[in-house]
Amino acid sequence: MQRIAFHIQKGGVGKTTLSGNIAHALAIKGRKTIMIDCDPQGNLSGWFLKESPKFELADVLNGRAELKDAIVEVHPGLSILPTFGIGGELKTYAENKLNDEPFIFEDLSGELAKMGFDVAIYDLSPGMSRLEKCVILAMDEVITPLTPEYFGLDGIEIFNEELKKINKNYRKTVKHSKIVVNNLNHSFKRHNEIYEVYQKMDYDLYTIGQDSKLAESQVYNQSIFEYAPTSRVVPEIERLAIAIGRP
Ligand SMILES: Nc1ncnc2c1ncn2[C@@H]1O[C@H](COP(=O)(O)OP(=O)(O)OP(=O)(O)O)[C@@H](O)[C@H]1O
Ligand SMILES: [Mg+2]
Repeated sequence: MQRIAFHIQKGGVGKTTLSGNIAHALAIKGRKTIMIDCDPQGNLSGWFLKESPKFELADVLNGRAELKDAIVEVHPGLSILPTFGIGGELKTYAENKLNDEPFIFEDLSGELAKMGFDVAIYDLSPGMSRLEKCVILAMDEVITPLTPEYFGLDGIEIFNEELKKINKNYRKTVKHSKIVVNNLNHSFKRHNEIYEVYQKMDYDLYTIGQDSKLAESQVYNQSIFEYAPTSRVVPEIERLAIAIGRP
């Protein structure tokens, strides 16, 4: 089972938007996919679930619910292990128990693989606290979304330093070769200038254009593939999904 997180410590760059839409793209391609909402804000869960689920990720981590009982199928081949945005316990778990169980997300991934999932996509909160680090160390690959703004250039450097430390301290080889320039609008001069800088960096570069339909779809509990299948961002998302399918 492939284990992938879309992450950078910066907020609001499209981590959740990419996690959900790439996960749905992979499911449409026939890969059994699960999204794991590791953000105490619960944005991914609020987007994909119309009704409150019975259990959340923290219940599984705390041993209060069986993994199979906490997983909700949202589309054929696409499931979610949710987090409650309001009244959830993931933050408390991370603050109080995670220190003693740093490999719990590796164990969780092992269980998900046994259940027959082909891909697991983890959505994280901005930042680089213990929770994000413990999820990252359990990944095969982290893909970094960025917006075409000047602060994005520093953001990628900071992320790289953090990932190097995680790989060294936990004896891991988490891959980081793809960056996604999200929210790109070629009619903005500064976007084009920053995009050129990203192009010169030593990464596989993907772009997702600016499209308000991406934000609107989330209001209606839909992915872009349901809400606006003819959007010009759909082929861009598919290109990234195909690249993920060829590890
Ligand atoms: N390409 C895009 N075009 C237009 N709007 C977008 C695009 N990508 C993301 N958005 C919107 O930008 C906002 C931030 O995106 P998102 O929530 O995915 O970021 P995030 O990195 O997960 O944020 P956080 O750090 O809070 O978890 C959302 O309202 C989302 O709908
Ligand atoms: Mg998010």
